[in-house]
Order: sequence, then C-alpha cells, then structure tokens
Amino acid sequence: MYHDFNYEATLASSLRAQWQLDDVLRVDQELDFSRNFMPESLARSAAVEALNPFEQRVLNHISAHQYLTIFGVVEEFILPFLVDHARPHLLGDDWRVRAILNFASEEAKHIHLFKRFHNAFVRGFPIECRMIGPSEAIGAEVLRHDPLAVGLVILMIEWMTQQHYLGSIRDDGDLDPLFKSLMKHHWMEEAQHAKLDTLIVDALGRGRSEAEIDKAIDEFFEIGGFLDDGLKTQAGFNLDALEKAIGRKVENRDEVIAQQHQAARWTYIGSGMVHERFVSTLESLSPNAARRIAEAAPLFA
Ligand SMILES: [Fe+2]
Ligand SMILES: [Fe+2]
Repeated sequence: MYHDFNYEATLASSLRAQWQLDDVLRVDQELDFSRNFMPESLARSAAVEALNPFEQRVLNHISAHQYLTIFGVVEEFILPFLVDHARPHLLGDDWRVRAILNFASEEAKHIHLFKRFHNAFVRGFPIECRMIGPSEAIGAEVLRHDPLAVGLVILMIEWMTQQHYLGSIRDDGDLDPLFKSLMKHHWMEEAQHAKLDTLIVDALGRGRSEAEIDKAIDEFFEIGGFLDDGLKTQAGFNLDALEKAIGRKVENRDEVIAQQHQAARWTYIGSGMVHERFVSTLESLSPNAARRIAEAAPLFA
C-alpha cells in the first residue's frame, strides 16, 4: 500500500484540526488593502512590467478576488460529489460514512468562509469584479463526468491547497495576515480531506481495467480543459477589472492576459497535478495514467 490512511484515524485528526469561521475572519473584520493578498508564486502580479507597483498590487487583489470565487465554485461541486459517494454506504462502515459526512460539512463551512472573505473584499475594493459562472452550471458540467475523473480532480485540488499555504508563508512577509490565515486554515482541514479523497479514489478505481482507467483519464482531461477555458475567460475579465480600477488601458493587453492565465493555470491546476501525493495515487491507479498526466503538467507550470 502506498499510504496508511484510514477513515477512523482521519476522522479523529479532522475533529482535532477543526476551526470556526470566526477563528479566521469575523463578519465585521476588514482586509488590509495596503498589502498584497496573494503570494507572488500564485498571482505573478509583480512580474507584470507594464504596471507600476501600485497597479501590480491592484492586480494582486483582483487575483485574490478570483481565488475566493473560484474556490467557492469548486467547493460547490465537491459537496454533492461527497454526498453521492456517502449515500451507498449509509448502512455499511460507520467510520467511512461519518468521515465523509464530516468532510462534506467542512466543505460547506469553507463555502461560507470564502463568501465571508468575498464580502469583505467587496466592501474594500472600489469596483465590481466580473466572474465566470454561474457556479451551478460549472458544477453540473464537472459532475456529469465519470466519478473517478471527478474524484481525481477533487484530489488534485485538495493537495494544491498545501502549495498555496506554503506559498503564503515562504513567499512574502508583507501579505495581509487575514489572507495568510485563510490559506493556513483551509489547508489544515484540506490535509485531512486529501487523505479521505485518496481513499475515495482508491475505491472508485478498484477493479477497473486499464482501458476503463484510460477512459477516466480522458474525462479528467476534459474537466481540466473545461476549467482551463474558464480560467482563460477569467483572465480577460480580470484585466477589464484592472483597467477600470486604475483608470487607464494597459499596453500589451494580450500578453498580460496570457501571463495571468498561466499564473491561474499553475494556481488552480498545475500545482496539484505535480503534487507528490497526487502523483502516488495516480501511480497506484495505473502507471500509464500517471505518465499521461505528467506529460501534460508542463503546460500548467
Ligand atoms: Fe475546502
Ligand atoms: Fe476539501
């Protein structure tokens, strides 16, 4: 076995790691817009030479707005996936059911957390930032795929929140402490979700032929391509918001959009794709699946 995760122990560590919304952000708490919100390793806003330092910070904030809304969207499709997965086991192993329902309840809490941050963002930011959506349509498109493919996408997302947290502590001493706390607290619970989702993916892959797994990996790429198209559209929306917020047109518009799209690819896809724990799950599922995903990873770096 490539890991020693089990439902009972993971539920116990989940219950120990749990926090309340107010531990991360109280309803009336304000973000510090004089600081960056996103680590540079994710936002890559300081790398945009067409902008002055003030404008780079505005872009960093817009990238944080994207983070809050994209995680909101993602959590919204994780929740029904988990409930669907728990349903057939309701009469079976109680540790599994309790662990998965607790996982689902934490994701519902994360939806509230991202909304609370989003509200604080809207209160402090001068203009409205447009977002792709609606989230129900995005969720429905993802969830119509093979559960194994969806489970892999979710596993990838859970592991990537570790990279986000590490980015927030390594990267920059000047980040807004509330955003750093968001990434830390999110990862604290995601670390347990990633273990549970590893067990879910193992279960969904069990007994499948190589051809069936290969088909699920095709669907994994379909979901990835769909999300990536959304990120590309969002990069355009983000530049519109930036121009509105700074009151001028940005030169090399297409280049900046492409650079910001690439930053989002790394943040929301690539940083999970290359995570060693995600890679070990793929290898245990099928070395061929691991190879296909490793070959695609450089596009999302
Ligand atoms: Fe979450
Ligand atoms: Fe999660």
